[in-house]
Amino acid sequence: MQSTVIAPSILSANFAKLGEEVDQVLASGADWVHFDVMDNHYVPNLTIGPLVCEALRKHGVTAPIDVHLMVQPVDRIVPDFAKAGASVISFHPEASAHVHRTVQLIRSHGCQAGLVLNPATPVEVLDYVLDDLDLVLLMSVNPGFGGQSFIPSALDKLRRVRAMIDATGKPIRLEIDGGVKPDNIGEIAAAGADTFVAGSAIFGQRDYADVIGRMKAAVAA
Ligand code: DX5
Ligand code: ZN
Repeated sequence: MQSTVIAPSILSANFAKLGEEVDQVLASGADWVHFDVMDNHYVPNLTIGPLVCEALRKHGVTAPIDVHLMVQPVDRIVPDFAKAGASVISFHPEASAHVHRTVQLIRSHGCQAGLVLNPATPVEVLDYVLDDLDLVLLMSVNPGFGGQSFIPSALDKLRRVRAMIDATGKPIRLEIDGGVKPDNIGEIAAAGADTFVAGSAIFGQRDYADVIGRMKAAVAA
């Protein structure tokens, strides 16, 4: 099992002062920055691209930037995000014509590669590609918006993917995204997640250190 990572989703941050918001969550104990990219095509919402990723790096952010691509097609935006300073790039298999090729493309640009499973995407999509991944991201809401409720069937899926990852013997991270809060993160961790995205639960609170601290304590319990 990998070390615990808390990755605040900046989707719920105040974009008018994004640099400060990111500095503040990182100073409050966050480990990564989760960066949601939406194209109003693969998902019905439009957010941020490589320019904003680059701006965070220029601002001085050194923590891993965890880019979650909700875009279609995927491949042509990968080099731009690598150049902009992305650390991990994850994509949805439904958005790529050649999943294994996209994984190779991400890695060839020096980034870690992740595959994202929507709530209704079967775990079998990981067959034949899991060994080549650095991370599996399970969606516990349908992608497109922050502030939705955790879909309970994600717990069983986490247990299944945890077993698949353990069988590889490789240090592949298992990340969960959607509706993660201090009061459910304990059971999510027990089901096998080691990397936790949380948007509204963190940015919706005034005291980031308090909520991140409570999340870490619940994972460790
Ligand atoms: C949804 C995004 C999530 C979202 C999570 O498509 O991938 O990262 O920001 O937000 P919360 O934690 O509010 O569910
Ligand atoms: Zn996300």
